Amino acid sequence: MEFSRNTKFHIPFVSLFTILLVVTTISNHVFAKGPCNFPAIFNFGASNADTGGYSVSMKALKSPYGETYFHKPAGRYSDGRIILDFIAQNFGLPYLSPYLDSLGSNFSTGANFGTAGSTIQPQSNYSIVGYVFSPFSLDVQYNQFLNFIPRTKFFREKGGIFATLMPQEEYFSKALYTYDIGQNDLTASFASFRPIKQIIDSIPDIVKKFTENVKNIYDLGGRSFWIHSTGPLGCHPSFLSDHSIGERDEYGCIKELNEVCKYFNLNLKEALAQLRKDLPNAAITYVDIYSAKYSLFQDPKKYGFEDPQVACCGYGGKYNFNHIVGCGDSMKVNGTEISAGSCGKASVRVMWDGIHYTEAANKVVFDKISSGAFTDPPIPLNMACLRSSDTKF
Ligand SMILES: *[C@@H]1O[C@H](CO)[C@@H](O)[C@H](O)[C@H]1NC(C)=O
Ligand SMILES: *[C@@H]1O[C@H](CO)[C@@H](O)[C@H](O)[C@H]1NC(C)=O
Ligand SMILES: *[C@@H]1O[C@H](CO)[C@@H](O)[C@H](O)[C@H]1NC(C)=O
Repeated sequence: MEFSRNTKFHIPFVSLFTILLVVTTISNHVFAKGPCNFPAIFNFGASNADTGGYSVSMKALKSPYGETYFHKPAGRYSDGRIILDFIAQNFGLPYLSPYLDSLGSNFSTGANFGTAGSTIQPQSNYSIVGYVFSPFSLDVQYNQFLNFIPRTKFFREKGGIFATLMPQEEYFSKALYTYDIGQNDLTASFASFRPIKQIIDSIPDIVKKFTENVKNIYDLGGRSFWIHSTGPLGCHPSFLSDHSIGERDEYGCIKELNEVCKYFNLNLKEALAQLRKDLPNAAITYVDIYSAKYSLFQDPKKYGFEDPQVACCGYGGKYNFNHIVGCGDSMKVNGTEISAGSCGKASVRVMWDGIHYTEAANKVVFDKISSGAFTDPPIPLNMACLRSSDTKF
């Protein structure tokens, strides 16, 4: 964590925080959940924030996904809830229905446009043999949202049962817009074995595409943005099992990959700082997911975890991960049936399937990021509607 560049903002922040705290305490019934009572959440992103979009449209997840909380596969790439679920829960909102799910969805308090494998750049930018990315890249998710707004209006006006499934018109400006995407753009670059220099050089373009999306959502009425950076991919079993040679850091993570992730995040953070100036009516919060997740690998015991780099659900090797036999899969190899099942103790593990985190880890990360200690500007989740002009950041 480094907030050195924000040091000058700390004093006004503290006084504002104190005032808000007092106000919140006095009129607890008014500000039951802090100053920002978001009535809805609209999410854009990839697998870390997928609540079932990929599962209903492309490939359903199998058991033991969902075993801890939902007790069945629930479209989430975890044994239970993901960070987005904890964010919804924090505001007293139901878990988000995937936009792509045409059965039983209720969009009255938001919608999730994110799907596993989604990239910031169009899918056509990443046609790598052996890697399948989602066709629902960020530009497609934007188009879906663009069409979503007038369609909800149509059904609201029609009345009846359908109207109860739609968000109120004013929710589009009052909602929290969350993002967790970028991991697959980096994964695609790593998988292509392009020289690191080339990968680094492509990052500003990718980040530009991202901020264009935020601007477009702003133009459609969005005002509060909560934007996750990308995690420490070099600590994930999926990469550790591949890169036998890459230099490791003191916690056993692949240095070079994490450096690229940090470079992406720095670019994103700076681009968002600029966007905050360009869009003074927006409240844009950058969330340092990298540091929050990395701390689980630095000090697993502190959070009650063991073997942080070993997948709970997987098959084989030092990291219990195999690209061919993923979590929930089984296959015959040399006449023997092998299967990738759960370790049965996801509550003490960080990584679930070698790429994604367990519910237990997601909860620790959520607690960290919602506190304000990992955000720029340094405000808690419950204040993510405050603009620069409100806070003097
Ligand atoms: C993505 O594809 C477009 C169109 O072919 C191209 O202009 C752009 O440079 C590509 N971006 C990256 C990062 O490869
Ligand atoms: C949709 O969700 C809202 C808010 O939770 C609820 O008030 C409404 O009754 C739900 N609609 C249906 C048809 O279940
Ligand atoms: C299957 O058998 C082949 C040939 O003996 C061997 O090279 C390969 O490693 C075996 N695969 C596994 C998963 O044991």
